[in-house]
Amino acid sequence: MSFKLQREDLVVTRNFIAGVWQGAASGETIPVNNPATGETFAFVPNSNEEDARAAVEAAVEAFDAWRATPAKQRAAILKRWNDLIMACADDLGKIISSEQGKPLAEGIGEIAYAASYVEWFAEEATRANGDIIPQAVRGRKMAAYREPVGVVAAITPWNFPAAMIARKIAPALAAGCTVVCKPASETPITALALVKLAEEAGVPAGVLNIVNTGSSKKVADVWLDDARVRKITFTGSTPVGKHLAHESSRTLKKLALELGGNAPFIVFEDADVDAAVEGLMAAKFRNGGQTCVCPNRVYVQSKIYGRFLEKLTERVAALVVGPASDPASQIGPMINAKAIAKIEEHVNDAVARGARVLTGGKRLFTEQRAESTYYAPTVLADVDLSAKCFHEETFGPVAPVTQFETEEEVIRLANDSPFGLASYFYSNDIRRVHRVTAALECGIVGVNEGAVAAEAAPFGGVKDSGYGREGSVHGLEEYMHIKYVCQGGLD
Ligand code: SIN
Repeated sequence: MSFKLQREDLVVTRNFIAGVWQGAASGETIPVNNPATGETFAFVPNSNEEDARAAVEAAVEAFDAWRATPAKQRAAILKRWNDLIMACADDLGKIISSEQGKPLAEGIGEIAYAASYVEWFAEEATRANGDIIPQAVRGRKMAAYREPVGVVAAITPWNFPAAMIARKIAPALAAGCTVVCKPASETPITALALVKLAEEAGVPAGVLNIVNTGSSKKVADVWLDDARVRKITFTGSTPVGKHLAHESSRTLKKLALELGGNAPFIVFEDADVDAAVEGLMAAKFRNGGQTCVCPNRVYVQSKIYGRFLEKLTERVAALVVGPASDPASQIGPMINAKAIAKIEEHVNDAVARGARVLTGGKRLFTEQRAESTYYAPTVLADVDLSAKCFHEETFGPVAPVTQFETEEEVIRLANDSPFGLASYFYSNDIRRVHRVTAALECGIVGVNEGAVAAEAAPFGGVKDSGYGREGSVHGLEEYMHIKYVCQGGLD
């Protein structure tokens, strides 16, 4: 751990099943590494099928009592969880930064973001109303009840180790579901600390279970095959999401899949160029570009192309890269060697196809560590439309820019992708704003805005970016089904 914590007891390195902190059944562990140095700073259980089954048993056992717990009481527990998370925000931020690498200010910011989902769903827990349906036949009453779907399996990613767990687990618990969770093997300690605080908040034994593993497939296969697991919620890659959709068809589970993105960022000539540059900085360089909603393709209308590139390059070149522990750092290390190799591949490919590197374009600090995971924030200009970085998620601090001439052309380019998570555009023409918003094929549109996610907003995609929504009232509905009740003989 690269930081001193106030509450050292938040660093837990065990599974939590049926209210008991425990090692893997096999006794095996896997290392947790600091992405900045590659050094191992903790070990967590390397769970297998046995642990995965035990977690489901615990969640099944706890379900009836939890669903019967009054909504107000579930809400009170979630509120306490939110309060504890916020009270420990500094420590939790330090844990995130240690295992994920993001600068400390961003780590602490992520904790506030995570807690906002817990608070929101604590409030929504008491509002999961059903419907009374107007009488169609004399002597008959009809109603639609909302009920929790049952046991939920949550599989979460490394890029937002706190926020993604919070926005899955909080609505599940609010709805009355019980949960089995597998966090990313790169960032398990944040997840475990959150579960520890959930235990302190009064979440009963078995309601929230967490299983760590380096063999995701072993754990996921058990959950996929078990018909008592009624829902899978997953954030991660599109191929894994498709695999889960395919395999869960055997037991017809409900699914929410938050998958890859390839967001276009369009700047029209009528836009405020300074605001567009700021929006791109916020959207692109958050978490070092390791977000599924971050712009991957920047299209700028030809009249303002030069001006936009100049301002963007100046801002990007000024970004400070360094370890999470340095308060000056704005961009941390990438998560691992594979991640940085992909960034290099994309930049090299774009350059080979004629792109100009306006700033960045290389690894940093290799003199200190040959396998350095730091990549310089990069602007690529004149990127050819065939470049890999325009078609696959780069997941790094690289802004590839090209120019376009007409609105029709750029809409076609923006939609020419199998993905459809976020899109962004800047324009001050109100008619264009409505036209382009309607034309973009995606689940989220940022109009003159680069920071789009919020607990009260529905987050999710279309096409290969998945389905289901997180956050907002829609995020609660994902964890409930409707039971229609028709009562006759009342006349
Ligand atoms: C993600 O990149 O997976 C989520 C980003 C967000 O919540 O804004």
